[in-house]
Order: sequence, then C-alpha cells, then structure tokens
Amino acid sequence: LGLEVNVDYVSAVAIDLGGAVRLERTVAVDGGDPYDVAVGLAQLAAAELTGEGIRLTGATVAVPGLVDRRNGVVAMAPNLGWRGRPVADDMGEATGLPVAVENDANCAALAEARRGATVGLGQSVYLTGTVGIGAGVISDGAIVRGTSGFAGEVGHIPLGDPAASCGCGRQGCWEASVGLRAVLAAVGVSEDGTPLEAAEAVSRRAAADPGAAETLEGVGVLLGKGVATMANILNPDAVVLGGFFVPLAPYLLPAVVREVEAHVTAAPYATLDVRLSTLGLRAAAAGAAEEALTQVFTGATAV
Ligand code: BGC
Ligand code: NA
Ligand code: ZN
Repeated sequence: LGLEVNVDYVSAVAIDLGGAVRLERTVAVDGGDPYDVAVGLAQLAAAELTGEGIRLTGATVAVPGLVDRRNGVVAMAPNLGWRGRPVADDMGEATGLPVAVENDANCAALAEARRGATVGLGQSVYLTGTVGIGAGVISDGAIVRGTSGFAGEVGHIPLGDPAASCGCGRQGCWEASVGLRAVLAAVGVSEDGTPLEAAEAVSRRAAADPGAAETLEGVGVLLGKGVATMANILNPDAVVLGGFFVPLAPYLLPAVVREVEAHVTAAPYATLDVRLSTLGLRAAAAGAAEEALTQVFTGATAV
C-alpha cells in the first residue's frame, strides 16, 4: 500500500506483487487534519482489499518533508508543521502493517520513471505542483538522496520574492512564490479542494480575466528559472511538472520553455524535455507503493 499525506489531499494506491494497481483513491482534506484523513483512508483501503481476499504486506507513506528513513521519522514537513514526527510507528500502530516513510517528490519521481512520463529515461527530475515544491531526482533509475536523504529540497532555493514567507520559517523561498498557495493568492482565488480542484478554479479565473492570465505567465517565468537552474546542475533527459502545474500548463508552459531555452547552457547541444506528469495526484502514492513492493522483495527497508 502506498499512501500520500499532503496538506490539502491524501492518496492511496495499492499494487499487487506483479505491480498491477488494485486500488487507488484521492480525497481532499477539506479543513481536517491531513494525518487523520490519511489514517482513515488507509483503514478503509485495508478493509476494502481484505474484503476482496487480498492480504496487505506493508505500507510506505509519502510525506511533503524531510524524512529520516532509517527511523521512519519526519524530521520536518514545513507545510504540515511537523517536526520529529514518528510516522512509521504511528501509522504502523493504526494499520497493523510494517510502515516505511519517504519524501513525496522522491516517490512521485520513481513512479513517473517506472510507469509514467519518464519511462525509459535514465536521468529525470520530477517537480511537485502542490503547496510545497519539491524535487525527486532520478539518476540511472534510482532516487538521488544526498547524505542525509534530504536531497531535492528545491522549494527552499531562494528564487522567490524576497519578502514572501515560507512554511519553513524563511523568506524568499521558491515555493513561497510558485507553490499552490502563492498562485491562489496571486490570482485572488480561494479554494480548499485538492490541488487539481484549485487549479480548475484558477483556470476559470484566468479564462475570464486577462490580468490573472498575465499573473500566471509571471509564475511560469519564475517556474522556468527554477527548472533551468535544476537543468544546469543535473543535465537530466527530462523535467516533469506534476500536480497543479499540469492543468495550468496552457498558462505556464510557454514561459517555462522560454526560460529553459534562455538559461540552460546545454540547450543548444542537448535536448531537455519539459514534460507533464501522467500520473496526476496519485504519483507519490503510486511511488510509495513501489517502495513498499521493494521491501517485500528485499525483506527490508531499502537504504
Ligand atoms: C518540502 C519538501 C517537499 C515539497 C513538496 C516542500 O515544502 O520541504 O520536502 O517535497 O514541499 O511537497
Ligand atoms: Na525530494
Ligand atoms: Zn522555505
């Protein structure tokens, strides 16, 4: 079972030993506590699968933050306000399953590489389009983790408006200017559904109001500068935009592509694809399920 706990939605994806999807569900948090909503969804999924005669072997939980995988503890999830939260133990108790924890963007990148937008590519970067912006970096098919497992924290690169406050407590972070809340505030829309529902509301506004469409183009420019920065560091085959970036692509993508052409040194000599996620909001949960499957085959949490 793969689960994603995010700020405004939670997702569950169950796969069988052959990797076939047996259940998938995404629900809006709608003002509730994301952790409690995720526990509810996990229990519901477990009951449903058990009812079909399927035995769950384990779960991996994808979270929007810095994960100490060895201990199953979320060191810090800026937009959930979590610090040192023992998610593996707590979720294990709630579900009766062995539970591992992983970063959301890492999971989504893995899922897109195995079954989504970047199948067949060795080097790719996935960018979450959620309240927070995080990257999952895939090199030779594996997640790049860094020394403490905290690689890919691109949402906190100081590319944003220097005055914008971030959930991490700093100012000027990229996600404080191109994350979902920043985009909603910039176009003057309030919406508490999932990021896709929010994006629909933003699209409606932009279709009716040229000022809002122009604001989105500005977001696209800033998004493109970050994509170009990552491409200059990593030289990937592709950068995948996920979450709410997908439905807003008509407004964002032209500016992203322009920035990439203008600022990626390798652009004249190599191709860099900017692709859209094909897995939608279930990407992170799907990747978490893949991780849980790895545990079945290796008998341990992969390190
Ligand atoms: C967190 C990352 C996460 C990203 C997307 C950021 O605020 O620091 O760990 O991957 O949001 O949820
Ligand atoms: Na990451
Ligand atoms: Zn930050």
